[in-house]
Amino acid sequence: MSELIQLGSQNERPRPPRPEEVEMRFSDKAIHELEALKTHYPDWKSCILPALWIAQREYEGMLTGPALAEVAIRLKRSYAEIEGVATFYSMYNTQHNPGKHKIEVCTCLTCAVCGGYRIIDLLKKKLGVEAGEVTSDGMFMIEEVECLNACDRAPLIQVGDQYYGPVDETSLDQLLSDLRASKESTVVKMADEIVQVHIMETEKA
Ligand code: FES
Repeated sequence: MSELIQLGSQNERPRPPRPEEVEMRFSDKAIHELEALKTHYPDWKSCILPALWIAQREYEGMLTGPALAEVAIRLKRSYAEIEGVATFYSMYNTQHNPGKHKIEVCTCLTCAVCGGYRIIDLLKKKLGVEAGEVTSDGMFMIEEVECLNACDRAPLIQVGDQYYGPVDETSLDQLLSDLRASKESTVVKMADEIVQVHIMETEKA
């Protein structure tokens, strides 16, 4: 697969994949979910957001060029439209491989005052990566984020669908150890949980 179809930096937009370069990877479960979702809305364009969550789960946490192309093909939309939506929202991982666990650290005002930057520094030191980089074992990525709307728990971090705070070095060590021991990717798990919220009980695969 050409590197050109992978999403690069914001200044180097990728060209869309050619149809013959797209290997459709949605599982039977994903296809079933998408077909159910299509019946929820007056047009398929309205399915773009949940379809991207399905793709983020099916492509192990990252919306690569081929992942976006598969969504475009399955919803009969243009690649540019799907890419435009996906890159607008920071919860979709289009720019970086998030690793198995994306650790989002709030450094907005309250968290910054309560030690958010110290938490970032501790994580960088413990994991040996800068924000936006994935550890060499593919386990963790650190991301600095804006207010997570739980300022009473500052300094706060989010991993998957869970908030942790206030965190200190001891609780951070415990969390990293728990995450290392877990088999599940919190990135993929959160994508699946969001998909399930969109699907009715009677439609579940
Ligand atoms: S400032 Fe960190 S959660 Fe609001």
